[in-house]
Amino acid sequence: MKIAVLPGDGIGPEIIAQARLVLDALGESFEIEEAPVGGAGYEAEGHPLPEKTLALAKEADAILFGSVGDFKYDNLPRELRPEQAILGLRKHLALFANLRPAICYPELTAASSLKPEIVSGLDILIVRELNGDVYFGSPKGIRTATDGLFPGAREGFDTMRYSEPEVRRIGQVAFAAARKRNKKICSVDKSNVLETSQLWRDVMIDLGKSYPDVELTHMYVDNAAMQLVKAPKAFDVVVTGNLFGDILSDEAAMLTGSIGMLPSASLDINNKGLYEPSHGSAPDIAGKGIANPLATILSAAMMLRYSLGKEEQALRIEKAVQQVLTKGYRTADIYTAGTQKVGTVEMGQAVLSALV
Ligand code: IPM
Ligand code: MG
Repeated sequence: MKIAVLPGDGIGPEIIAQARLVLDALGESFEIEEAPVGGAGYEAEGHPLPEKTLALAKEADAILFGSVGDFKYDNLPRELRPEQAILGLRKHLALFANLRPAICYPELTAASSLKPEIVSGLDILIVRELNGDVYFGSPKGIRTATDGLFPGAREGFDTMRYSEPEVRRIGQVAFAAARKRNKKICSVDKSNVLETSQLWRDVMIDLGKSYPDVELTHMYVDNAAMQLVKAPKAFDVVVTGNLFGDILSDEAAMLTGSIGMLPSASLDINNKGLYEPSHGSAPDIAGKGIANPLATILSAAMMLRYSLGKEEQALRIEKAVQQVLTKGYRTADIYTAGTQKVGTVEMGQAVLSALV
């Protein structure tokens, strides 16, 4: 089995290094090949998603991705900015289903900014559509307005659009996931205002008829944002579009204590996937050796589970991470008084020693 490893920018290379050590320690014979992506791709080949990197990602069975982005590329034309690498991979590989679990480990409740009783035991799954919506809808651009409030003025425009099959296939992923959990789905939209959301809701309701054992509810995105901090444990699976999912998944991440803990999977229709921590490249702490590698290590576990069919190995990693937390090891982002502060490498080593 071949794994493409794309470390990227910022803290990406540091956290990926730890995840690689964990993968190596499993005793499997994976073929692993690294390639530059994001700002690193731009430096190496003049493009955030170099052709060789894309080709490697296509031929691999799974992709382990670090993170991309750095302030220093903010002034490049949009198509050369690091973010285009992840958007391009999602699009070229048709990775439409983004799974973002938000789990609050009991040991980390104190690290959350919310009261412990609100978050302790939290276990929700955000299923975010990743190939459509205003992210990819055309037309988009910047032009001179010919109508509207200020004709003749420069205006920016994007197009929010979803076709019925796109909504249906992400819905199917969410319903299937709910069946393996607490059988509850909340579909989040803005159907009180948006036509795209009206279609979304109609399709979800129709799809729900095929899953009578799963409880389907609907919520407007503004209310969902509020409920997520008010009573997050009321959710099980949340399914939503690309833009709303981007925002809500960051919000959900903070319920768990630190975004530094959250893995994610982006899957195609055949469960080939790209696995990445939910957090970004954190250029402000890059190179300091303090980044939390656990989200990336847990992403490697998701990769073993969903794309490589190695559930046992996935569990080995997840148990090791749990143990390390129980033992009290904490990187700076999850540090609370009375625990032991460690750096990126020490945290990786702690996971290695906890692997059984
Ligand atoms: C994410 C990120 C990306 C997104 C950026 C880097 C393009 O925020 O994975 O959530 O908006 O999808
Ligand atoms: Mg985001």
